[in-house]
Amino acid sequence: MSAPLTAPAAIVLAAGQGTRMRSRIPKVLHPLAGRPMLDHVLDALRDAGIERAVVVTGHGADAVEAAVADRAATVRQEPQRGTADAVRVGLRLVPDDADQIVVTNGDAPLLPADLFEAVLREQAAGDTVAIIVSARVADPTGYGRLLRAADGSARAVVEDRDADAATKAIDEINVNTYCFDAAWLRANVENVPPSASGEYYLTDLVGLAVGAGHRVGVVQVVQPALVVGINDRLQLAAAEESMRSRINERHMRNGVTIVDPSTTRIDAAVEIGQDARIEPGTTLEGSTVIAQDAVIGPNAHVRDSRIGPRTRVWASVVEESVVAEDVQIGPFAHLRPGAEVGARCRIGNFAEIKKSRIGAGSQQHHFSYLGDAEIGENVNVGAGSVTANFDGTAKHRTVVGDRASIGVDTMMVAPVTIGEGATTGAGAVVTRDVAPGKTVVGMPARPIDMRRHRGQPAEAGEPSAGQAPVPTGADRNSQGGG
Ligand code: UD1
Ligand code: CA
Repeated sequence: MSAPLTAPAAIVLAAGQGTRMRSRIPKVLHPLAGRPMLDHVLDALRDAGIERAVVVTGHGADAVEAAVADRAATVRQEPQRGTADAVRVGLRLVPDDADQIVVTNGDAPLLPADLFEAVLREQAAGDTVAIIVSARVADPTGYGRLLRAADGSARAVVEDRDADAATKAIDEINVNTYCFDAAWLRANVENVPPSASGEYYLTDLVGLAVGAGHRVGVVQVVQPALVVGINDRLQLAAAEESMRSRINERHMRNGVTIVDPSTTRIDAAVEIGQDARIEPGTTLEGSTVIAQDAVIGPNAHVRDSRIGPRTRVWASVVEESVVAEDVQIGPFAHLRPGAEVGARCRIGNFAEIKKSRIGAGSQQHHFSYLGDAEIGENVNVGAGSVTANFDGTAKHRTVVGDRASIGVDTMMVAPVTIGEGATTGAGAVVTRDVAPGKTVVGMPARPIDMRRHRGQPAEAGEPSAGQAPVPTGADRNSQGGG
């Protein structure tokens, strides 16, 4: 499909109240697949080559304007006197050089980009001043009905409340998406007369154009499920389901295995590499990026994170974290914001990591907490080990050097540094820095002479801990390094 050779702009109608949502949040900001529905509308317009959009706001204007400030112009319609009035207000911000203007609803987030492409193409190609989008639906109640002329072009739109029995029987409805010739729209939007209720109906422009001898073309949507405007939470849930299956389908067509699409929820902006495998019960949210050959799930929840190639995330929660390649996470691990996990790490059951960097090849197999820590490469963190990073007032850092061995149940009382290759004994409470290669035991932990501890001659000049042997937990079996 070729890009339009025109300079299109769009007006997105979003001033209405959305009463039936029964919400304190403006309707168009309710999320679908993790993003406000208005964003989906703007995405589809952008994907159709329409970069310039004006959003007409009214109810909840402050919140709506803040939500789209970086991607659309906004203008307030006060009071809300109908859809034609909204377009009139929106036109003020449409650039003068725009020659085609697409109008659509902010609460119709499922309309696909190719529909907008189609109306631009049809309007540019034919001798029409406007194209109107229609759909045939099982239950047309509440919608405006499209009346067609003998040649198939549009003749008029009759609102449900104004329709007689014969018109109510028509199942072809007005979607409320149009493409207008910009000059014609500017010249004629002021001519719409008020309705009985004092509202200005955009739909009246169809009758006006036809009455002046112009042709109004029709583009009919083939999948009527996509046109549903969202008015209540039931329609929101239905739209969510429909959007999620569309997202899953896109990933599967791109070479991602989704074992059970019905239990897999992937937000719109998530990226997934080829041959990645998404197992059942998995949720991928926000700006998450999954690299190729990764295996996520079953029952994983990943938000705003990057997961590296071949990494496995099994039944775990990962938030705002970065995980490198060939890592094993879970089951039942929790990576909280700011976790950075290096290549080939093993993060196991009930391991929690927050704002910490874990070097390549390190292991934290069992229940354990690392917060505000810098863990080197090939470190073993034994079961029950905890960074005491909070002294009641402030957070402090823990630094553990490469190849260190943290024995089971070690408390690292921050700020503290444990040097490269150092070892802590089982139950050690480390309150002071540990020199590289040293072993510390006890509470508070102090150095011991390992030779003496093992019944060998003491190292010359090395003070002994002067107490009974304490298990160090440094051997692989007692350390929980398994
Ligand atoms: C409108 C159409 C109807 C069509 C239906 C499709 C008119 C007169 N009727 O009806 O033919 O079948 O959409 O959903 O246009 N809005 C404003 N300012 C206003 C009024 C509305 O911005 O003053 C916005 C709303 O926020 C909404 C859109 O325009 O996004 C449509 O308004 P709504 O009240 O839902 O129109 P309907 O009566 O449903
Ligand atoms: Ca509506």
